[in-house]
Amino acid sequence: GIPKFVKIVEVGPRDGLQNEKNIVPTDVKVELIHRLVSSGLPVVEATSFVSPKWVPQLADARDVMEAVHGLEGSRLPVLTPNLKGFEAAVAAGAKEVAVFASASESFSKSNINCSIEESLARYRAVTRAAKELSIPVRGYVSCVIGCPEEGSIHPSKVAYVAKELHDMGCFEISLGDTIGVGTPGTVALMLEAVMAVVPVEKLAIHFHDTYGQSLPNILVSLQICLYNSLSHFEQMGISVVDSSVAGLGGCPYAKGASGNVATEDVVYMLHGLGVRTNVDLVKLLSAGDFICKQLGRPSGSKTAVALSRV
Ligand code: HMG
Ligand code: MG
Repeated sequence: GIPKFVKIVEVGPRDGLQNEKNIVPTDVKVELIHRLVSSGLPVVEATSFVSPKWVPQLADARDVMEAVHGLEGSRLPVLTPNLKGFEAAVAAGAKEVAVFASASESFSKSNINCSIEESLARYRAVTRAAKELSIPVRGYVSCVIGCPEEGSIHPSKVAYVAKELHDMGCFEISLGDTIGVGTPGTVALMLEAVMAVVPVEKLAIHFHDTYGQSLPNILVSLQICLYNSLSHFEQMGISVVDSSVAGLGGCPYAKGASGNVATEDVVYMLHGLGVRTNVDLVKLLSAGDFICKQLGRPSGSKTAVALSRV
């Protein structure tokens, strides 16, 4: 079976806008977040408290958080690469954060300038500090299928990093196909390895759509069932899906990676399957339309393009 409800984690304002050539004005980011929240999305990742030298597009993180303070209806997590970022995020009013590790040693170096083990040590410090303040921490694993430098990544490496993040207290682990090379076959093998060490209800999937494989990859992730480590049979697959409005996105440190799977397309597929999301597709389309007009380019969502014609 597949889950009756899927929680969509909208990452457009963060994963999408971190990769824009031109810096998007703060008030446009804030308006986008407002529109996404009002479409009923339960989680909208708002920005990142990372080095402005590394990601100048999100250098206004504090202003964005100040402007969305008190906005109700969605959780608004932010990315934090270290304690410095965590402290800045908390000071700016963040109530939830995410740390981001990698299953690839080379990508860890190029994205956050440290080894996988060093990053896990930093994240243990972040999760400890967060626990004191009762702030939930999400953990990402990047390059779960492939790495721009190393090629294929073995599922055991993904399982290792996912388990470390889970053990340090991350409430949810998002498995990122950063460069979008996965197909349902490689994704299923990777998920089986991870589900053997982290309970399925703690897992999320995060697909970039470089090869157009995101929707089949999501479908297989929702359907996958297996015996978990407690050896009871899992009836359902994963029920948390990351996506980005209008298919915005890509990591500036993953050359050639395209945007995330479009939220509109995910919602269209899920509603078609009878899976609830709480998202109002019409309002979501209008949020996508807004940001595409601001960026001056067509939507990366096929659903948005199709529905704008009818
Ligand atoms: P570093 O240069 O090694 O940092 O960068 P450092 O500790 O040596 O410090 C250097 C300078 O940065 C110092 O300032 C620090 O204060 C400052 P200076 O003394 O030179 O003036 N600094 C900071 N400033 C602001 N906020 C901070 C911070 N930390 C240090 N948090 C660092 C290491 C991790 C900071 C850097 O590499 C970085 O910010 N990387 C972030 C890269 C990024 O955001 N990538 C995109 C997100 S990941 C992604 O997209 C994948 C995902 O979507 C999942 C998927 O698709 O798979 C999540
Ligand atoms: Mg991403």
